[in-house]
Amino acid sequence: MKTKTVYVCTECGAVTPKWSGKCTSCGEWNTLQEEIQTAEKKAVKSPKVSVFSTQPIHISQIPQEEENRILTGIAEFDRVLGGGIVQGSLVLVSGEPGIGKSTILLQICEQICRNRTVLYVSGEESPRQIKMRAERLGVISENLLILPQTDIHEITARIETESPDMVIIDSIQTMEKAEVTSSPGSITQVKECTSDLMRTAKTTGCPIFIVGHVNKEGSIAGPKVLEHMVDAVLYFEGERFLDCRILRAVKNRFGSTNEIGVFEMTSKGLVEVDNPSKLFLQGKPENVSGIATVGVMEGSRPIIAEIQALVTQTPFPSPRRIASGFDYNRLNLIIAVLEKRCGFFFGNSDTYLNIIGGLRISEPAADLAVATALASSLKDFIIPSDTILLGEIGLAGEVRTISGLEKRVLEAEKLGYTRCIVPKKNKITGFDSQAEIIGVSNLREVFSKI
Ligand SMILES: Nc1ncnc2c1ncn2[C@@H]1O[C@H](COP(=O)(O)OP(=O)(O)OP(=O)(O)O)[C@@H](O)[C@H]1O
Ligand SMILES: [Mg+2]
Repeated sequence: MKTKTVYVCTECGAVTPKWSGKCTSCGEWNTLQEEIQTAEKKAVKSPKVSVFSTQPIHISQIPQEEENRILTGIAEFDRVLGGGIVQGSLVLVSGEPGIGKSTILLQICEQICRNRTVLYVSGEESPRQIKMRAERLGVISENLLILPQTDIHEITARIETESPDMVIIDSIQTMEKAEVTSSPGSITQVKECTSDLMRTAKTTGCPIFIVGHVNKEGSIAGPKVLEHMVDAVLYFEGERFLDCRILRAVKNRFGSTNEIGVFEMTSKGLVEVDNPSKLFLQGKPENVSGIATVGVMEGSRPIIAEIQALVTQTPFPSPRRIASGFDYNRLNLIIAVLEKRCGFFFGNSDTYLNIIGGLRISEPAADLAVATALASSLKDFIIPSDTILLGEIGLAGEVRTISGLEKRVLEAEKLGYTRCIVPKKNKITGFDSQAEIIGVSNLREVFSKI
């Protein structure tokens, strides 16, 4: 059989016969990947689709459907999805190898299988392996059907005939469509299979979860278009060597993308963590410089997190700055403000910043805690362990207002914090809190009040 090499763009999925540094279709650089295609190509059947129409319809005439979500019984999972699984939705669950994608998807079957059927399609593991895991997780049910299959036509046909209430595809990289000549896992295959599954989900109304692996760079293996195609993208992350796992919605057509779900990996599977702050504050050191506490909002929920900074003298001419769980450029900005507005000097020190528990903070409200932790480590003073710091820092060294202050303060109080240093411009009175609330208007003031 003759083979042919083509180049497919991972961003837009465009196919070209020749490699070039820049995709001629979408203009992205270094996105073309080699793919081997066999020359034989069967005609592609175009499937019948009933959701599409040639005539435009008045929005008022579209029959209203009651939003009927399926609850998984795992509150953290439901919350990330925006309140349960939407009928006919296609959800991509992605994450690093061994993080627990198959585990969480098998676990949600437990509750659903009590009165509904689930079809678990596996192209990766044998039915015996899946059974072993299901037994460990306690998910053995008559309503859970296992289908070891990789042919997408077989799978979509099964979904139509068996009409299960939910389908899990583990994983999209192992699925193949016969008409597409490239190998499973290639961009074209992944795109084609997803598009078929999307159609099946929309026509049958059956929600489909697909597992997607991530590649070395940490993005979902396959074209970016895959993320555009699906209704929701959930990303499962966590430190490999810690038990804490965070489920985050990167995209969600039916809910907010800010919500996170926190789990702990145990031998019985993933266990929900109702109070993540407690987990993130576990083992917080006392009477050590460079440690600050902050309250960040993850969706509607406040989480209290620990920030650690270490500033040490370096003999090298170009000092190192490393941020883990925090934006590197934001760290540089905060250091610049500390130097210019408060007279600190970091020029001959290595600076390390770490957010404990594998949490990633992207909120500016953490600025004040980061700045104080850095100054605390540089000057070796201790931030009292009953104090929490909240506020965004401006380039003039001013402490700017943040949203959701009351929620953060109340959460901190629940965990035993009694002093809150907050922006003066925020409304800081009338809280239902016993904690001492100290308003500050600029960074210099913080150091005098600590
Ligand atoms: N007996 C056990 N006790 C505790 N934890 C276990 C046990 N068996 C597996 N695990 C945990 O489950 C993880 C594997 O979970 P799972 O197979 O769901 O991951 P995955 O994301 O689907 O991986 P892959 O990318 O290989 O499909 C392991 O990394 C380990 O942390
Ligand atoms: Mg798996």
